[in-house]
Amino acid sequence: MTIKIAPSLLSADFSRLGEEVKRVEDNGADWIHLDVMDGHFVPTITVGPPVAASIRKVTNLFIDAHLMVNKPEEQIEQFVEAGVNLITIQTEATAHLDRALRKIKSFGIKAGVALNPATPIYSLEYVWPLLDLVLVMSVNPGAGGQKFIPAVLPKIKAIAREIRSREADIELQVDGGINRETASPVIEAGATVLVAGSAIFGDPSGVALIKNMKDLSR
Ligand code: DX5
Ligand code: ZN
Repeated sequence: MTIKIAPSLLSADFSRLGEEVKRVEDNGADWIHLDVMDGHFVPTITVGPPVAASIRKVTNLFIDAHLMVNKPEEQIEQFVEAGVNLITIQTEATAHLDRALRKIKSFGIKAGVALNPATPIYSLEYVWPLLDLVLVMSVNPGAGGQKFIPAVLPKIKAIAREIRSREADIELQVDGGINRETASPVIEAGATVLVAGSAIFGDPSGVALIKNMKDLSR
């Protein structure tokens, strides 16, 4: 199975976002990963629904919105209207995980849950039937360009095992510190979608990594 690559726009040039999206699309990106931060769940503020809507206008790629915001259930309609294809919420950011996931799915789009590095798998225990994606954070959310935390590898393996045993159609996405070196162990552990920001947008030849990482999984 070939892995999917979802470049994170967090490290892109925000003054030329449309061109940056085209550039990764032309170089084989499968999805576009949009990091939404609210200044509360994480200290940083990034972008919101208007930027998602602008990106929707320049690409037909699958847009994956990763909400690092408190009470994500209050933002869902706005991102649906902006035209994203999948909304991932952080399990630590809501007291109403089941309700929030049902709300996302009620709009006919896909739903994901993200787990911070210290968050155990059992927080997913009662919501598996609602999931289209599990996102394992391999850095603490809040910024691009951080170092991969190897302690999450056993968690990726355990979630991959769980998905296999359920024979479920659930993507296993890994986000944070993914580069030429860390991609291999993450793919071996069972990831199906890799997010990479700084490694792709950080230097002009970084887009070549999209193809290189896909080759690793063939
Ligand atoms: C971290 C974000 C990630 C981040 C990835 O809070 O969720 O998507 O932008 O960036 P790199 O690949 O630079 O770690
Ligand atoms: Zn992300």
